[in-house]
Amino acid sequence: MTDDVLIVHGGTPLEGEIRVRGAKNLVPKAMVAALLGHEPSRLRNVPDIRDVKVVRGLLQLHGVTVRVGEEEGELVLDPTSVERANVADIDAHAGSSRIPILFCGPLLHRLGHAFIPGLGGCDIGGRPVDFHFDVLRQFGAVIEKHPQGTELSAPQRLRGCKIELPYPSVGATEQVLLTAVLAEGVTELRNAAIEPEIVDLICVLQKMGAIISMGTDRTILITGVDRLGGYNHRALPDRLEAASWACAALATHGDIYVRGARQLEMMTFLNTFRKVGGAFAVDDEGIRFWHPGGELKAIALETDVHPGFQTDWQQPLVVALTQASGLSIVHETVYESRLGFTSALNQMGAHIQLYRECLGGTPCRFGRRNFLHSAVVSGPSKLQGAELVIPDLRGGFSYLIAALAAQGTSRVHGIALINRGYENFMDKLRALGAQIELPEPAA
Ligand code: EPU
Repeated sequence: MTDDVLIVHGGTPLEGEIRVRGAKNLVPKAMVAALLGHEPSRLRNVPDIRDVKVVRGLLQLHGVTVRVGEEEGELVLDPTSVERANVADIDAHAGSSRIPILFCGPLLHRLGHAFIPGLGGCDIGGRPVDFHFDVLRQFGAVIEKHPQGTELSAPQRLRGCKIELPYPSVGATEQVLLTAVLAEGVTELRNAAIEPEIVDLICVLQKMGAIISMGTDRTILITGVDRLGGYNHRALPDRLEAASWACAALATHGDIYVRGARQLEMMTFLNTFRKVGGAFAVDDEGIRFWHPGGELKAIALETDVHPGFQTDWQQPLVVALTQASGLSIVHETVYESRLGFTSALNQMGAHIQLYRECLGGTPCRFGRRNFLHSAVVSGPSKLQGAELVIPDLRGGFSYLIAALAAQGTSRVHGIALINRGYENFMDKLRALGAQIELPEPAA
């Protein structure tokens, strides 16, 4: 398909300004939260990305009216007439995203029943959902798995419970929050994820009338209430997209002002960016990222749950590290297969060697399990244009960065995947001076 290929002529520094809007990893979840209310909700700063479209479609199937509000990027979600959806219609969304699993709690509260299609999402590891189903069972849900999807029911009102997650999973924490707010009694969640997007979801739920307190040591306490209203919320900015543009500035010797980027959620990234030799300046409206000239420095990096270095920042940063002098070490501890994208970078001229051992300071869950989850990046390398096939969302954007930093022309296949999380990325690239084109349609 020609419209799924982008031709990238590399070697031009990216310069100019782009804007990031609400976070991909918050917005679809806040849309699901609207299902819990008995009044309309208004979500602002919503980006035009595929995950939003998928959730919008699923909400509409369940009787939620979703319309565009008066403000640019505003959605108004009215859940007053929630109803069961046709299984075949839900199933049409199979494989499109991971968000449908978060419909479980809200639908069980509203209808006593939920059907969840097969999930999608990026292929960056096994991506099981065992934690999700385990916690739902603890609330009292009955779960039946079928070949085409999963059916859940709540024979009686779900009850609050004590939960300890085996790992601070973002999705499982959201599952608990979206279920506990209307469950009977108190839920205590230990070993919770505390990513900024989770805190923003808690803010959304609090606006709706939920009672949620965050304790020290990854504990969240939720006191169930009988009824929730709507919310009016401006989604926090997408710190993952902002960091991707920062890495693009560094790798291409460029200078990008990311309007909408916020320091608060990016502190860990900013420290690392500075250690590598990148420059940045924060103001009230955004953050300017640029390559200040001179050599970039090799670093040792370990991804982790928040407040550690976010795994989604790893792939774009690795492209920048191919331009740093010396040996960088990268230990990926969140997803076991998130370094697979580096083989294409090697084809472009990078020198990246993968290891099964934990090369960081902390042994992780993948250390003795045969996963190539550590990397040594030796630089600087001159990258050459290549034929690239996008493997996953962040890896895909990283290939675009590599192609833009490389000499010569690359053909990047599978760019539709990037629309899942990067709003209008082609317009933004053009605005920054990138030399990109779509192939001529076949006659
Ligand atoms: N895990 C399990 N069982 C589960 C759930 C998770 O073993 O039931 C494991 C995963 O396999 C993984 C680890 O726990 O090794 C962390 O997974 P988590 O549940 O935290 O991830 P997620 O909720 O599926 C979200 C983001 C990801 C982001 C991670 C980590 C969304 C839609 N996705 O995924 O974002 O990397 O949290 O912060 O919010 C992306 O934006 O490109 C992306 C992949």
